[in-house]
Amino acid sequence: MQNVLVTGGAGFIGSNFVRYLLAAEPGVQIVNLDLLTYAGSLENLNELPDPERHTFVQGNICDRPLVDELLHKHQIDTIVHFAAESHVDRSILDPGSFIQTNIIGTHTLLEACRAYWLVENKATSQEVRFHHISTDEVFGTLAPDEPAFEEDTP
Ligand SMILES: NC(=O)c1ccc[n+]([C@@H]2O[C@H](COP(=O)([O-])OP(=O)(O)OC[C@H]3O[C@@H](n4cnc5c(N)ncnc54)[C@H](O)[C@@H]3O)[C@@H](O)[C@H]2O)c1
Repeated sequence: MQNVLVTGGAGFIGSNFVRYLLAAEPGVQIVNLDLLTYAGSLENLNELPDPERHTFVQGNICDRPLVDELLHKHQIDTIVHFAAESHVDRSILDPGSFIQTNIIGTHTLLEACRAYWLVENKATSQEVRFHHISTDEVFGTLAPDEPAFEEDTP
């Protein structure tokens, strides 16, 4: 893990992850792609440790040309995807923004990674990883004493 694209890194969990990663991994460069919706704030990114290893980009994960550009320009080997419409009750009033960001946006990131890592064979010489942070409403609930979910967990 050298060049990490964090999406939604101006939000609650993403900004704490950016802060953590900068402190824990001295060799890592972070590109932080966040649309700055009502849920995101640059104030969450004040006084980062080692801020010169953090590049903030205001933009939409649904914007495929932008995502492609960031993957190539920064030679991204890892994506940690937090960007989401996260306040579930709002989806009753405004489902469209949830469909756009959570479904279309995630699909856009996955297709961009597939093109960059697999079709262009960037993955042959290095490890790559797409880590999607989501919620128990998607993944299901795990009790503290239960074994971790695997890829083939129903
Ligand atoms: N906060 C929790 O307690 C909690 C619990 C379980 C799971 N989660 C999940 O973790 C993830 C992150 O949650 P959070 O609490 O940090 O959310 P948040 O709402 O605080 O942050 C989401 C961030 O995504 C950005 N964003 C929204 N749409 C975007 C788009 N189209 N393109 C780019 N950026 C966009 C927002 O500007 C914001 O900074 C979500 O998937 C959420 O469901 C959160």
